[in-house]
Amino acid sequence: MSTQSTAAFWTRTHTCGELRADDDGAEVVLNGWVHLHRDKGALVFMDVRDRYGVTQILFDPDLCSAEAFETAKSLRVEFVVAVRGKVVARPEGMRNNKRATGAVEIQALDVQLLTRSEPLPIVLEGKAQAGEDMRLKHRYLDLRRKSLQHNMMTRHRVTLETLNYFDAHDFVTVETPILTKSTPEGARDYLVPSRVHPGDFFALPQSPQIFKQIMMISGYDRYLQIAKCFRDEDLRADRQPEFTQVDIEMSFITPDILFPILEGWLAKLWKQFKDVDIQLPVQRLTYANVMERFGVDRPDLRFGFELATVTDLVAGTEAAPIRGALDAEGTVKAIFVPGDPGALSRKKLDAYTKTARDFGLGGLLWGKVTADGCSGAAGKFLSDDERAGIVARLAERNGFSDSTGILLVAAGPTKGVNDALSRIRVQVARDTESIPEDTFVFCWVTDFPMFEWDEEAERWDAMHHPFTAPKAEHLHLLDSDPGAVLTDAYDMVCNGYEIGGGSIRIHQPGTQSKVFELLGLSEEQKQQKFGFLLDALSYGTPPHGGIAFGLDRLIMLLVGTEAIRDVIAFPKTNKAFCLMTSAPGPVDEGQMDDLHLRSTAPPKDAQA
Ligand code: AMO
Repeated sequence: MSTQSTAAFWTRTHTCGELRADDDGAEVVLNGWVHLHRDKGALVFMDVRDRYGVTQILFDPDLCSAEAFETAKSLRVEFVVAVRGKVVARPEGMRNNKRATGAVEIQALDVQLLTRSEPLPIVLEGKAQAGEDMRLKHRYLDLRRKSLQHNMMTRHRVTLETLNYFDAHDFVTVETPILTKSTPEGARDYLVPSRVHPGDFFALPQSPQIFKQIMMISGYDRYLQIAKCFRDEDLRADRQPEFTQVDIEMSFITPDILFPILEGWLAKLWKQFKDVDIQLPVQRLTYANVMERFGVDRPDLRFGFELATVTDLVAGTEAAPIRGALDAEGTVKAIFVPGDPGALSRKKLDAYTKTARDFGLGGLLWGKVTADGCSGAAGKFLSDDERAGIVARLAERNGFSDSTGILLVAAGPTKGVNDALSRIRVQVARDTESIPEDTFVFCWVTDFPMFEWDEEAERWDAMHHPFTAPKAEHLHLLDSDPGAVLTDAYDMVCNGYEIGGGSIRIHQPGTQSKVFELLGLSEEQKQQKFGFLLDALSYGTPPHGGIAFGLDRLIMLLVGTEAIRDVIAFPKTNKAFCLMTSAPGPVDEGQMDDLHLRSTAPPKDAQA
């Protein structure tokens, strides 16, 4: 292949992942980064890398010019080069079968150094070793790592598959505004001050919720968007301030029409990217059921250790830790780890107790149950009958017959008990190595309550969002007993992650207005915040509903990482900061003046 070109360097004839034994004898040019550099004195070995792979190069002074050999010696890792050489198939026994190009080596004829690199602040080969801050600061280097490149490519392909799948089902992609009005998804807004409208602000969308509903009112019937969303909230391993949704809305549907379309899409992704057949239809569990059995609305169903409420079994107790909870109208729930009572060390049990305390409980009553009785606080505070009753209930729920094992009992406010035991359940599963690898268990969680009581604000709050429709048979409870109203809201959960959430929407302006009232909005606030939606709803709104999946979380599951930052090219830290660009940062006074803003923040050194 000729290497003449008008470029200032030799442009590649092949990528670094392309050459095979069949190319033996060909003269080629590769462009890429020096991945590995071994100077053996009389010979120089080098690996050259690009996005497509790695190819081994040999510099032998008998085969290349003295000048090329000198250049080869001077190269360092991450220098960018053009190498001209001859492909040589390696003898059978000398091939590197772990590498796609392992059957060949390039005997270099010449080399061009295109750009140098400073010594690297982080190591690119193998598992990431540098601290995460260094990796985020030098994200351009971190993104060269094979694992991150794999994640980015997977993300690209999942996005394409998704667009194609929904296109084949008649969905229309529509872009909705980024500069918009506040959308209530339960987080704080990111605000953008307006220069043209002094003192006014845009909000970045927490989701395209209202716009997609309006697209239904406008008759588009099936909407899809790969949508950027912005939420100023506490960050976790699976949460970023800026994330991406696969956002969906459909008209004239019920959950029974919507779910199979979504399940078909997930099944396709899991088949293609994991070679896993998702069991269809995906099981549906009600919110009440999962809260009882798992203490959380995103249960990890890969393992057992289900909880059971045992309040009734200890109702007569005088034991202080439990009595206190019962008198305060609390709940008592338990977990049993059947089998060897020595399976969990004291250290682990102490860690569970700490988890219970972190969620505001007095502690955790645990005990090792053997034929001789029960040790620990569970032994001390539960009678033999109470303990036997608890173990029997857990045995029935979990389908085990052991009477020995470890009993964990939590007593306190219902929310604290559920929060603590749901966490402890996962800790137990990890500690006893009970989580099967490469297993994905999906479920729908349905029938969420419409409202939850906000203790601080002393008012009802929407559990999903205020556009979610109450179940028709519960509409009459809106006035008399809002806490009892259930909705057609649903979440899709996989392995303990909430990967999607949505609902059937309110399509009657009267009902929507009533729900806003229940959420404490005055007539004026209703008009100011949602007047346009109430207007739109009044012009012939089809029954509709939808859902949004967290694209980042889907990719996390598909590539097998627990860190959302591994699947986002330019993520932020837990403090919502970009270490690479140092955003957010100060702006100059002129810009502040243009925006009619004045900062009241203390000087930076005073903040530290
Ligand atoms: P919801 O708030 O449940 O619903 O969000 C939908 C899905 O988006 C993902 N997600 C996040 N992923 C990463 N970082 C975050 N901060 C984050 N927040 C949410 C989750 C979640 O299941 N408008 C509604 C959808 C609807 O009703 O159609 C909404 O946004 O995977």
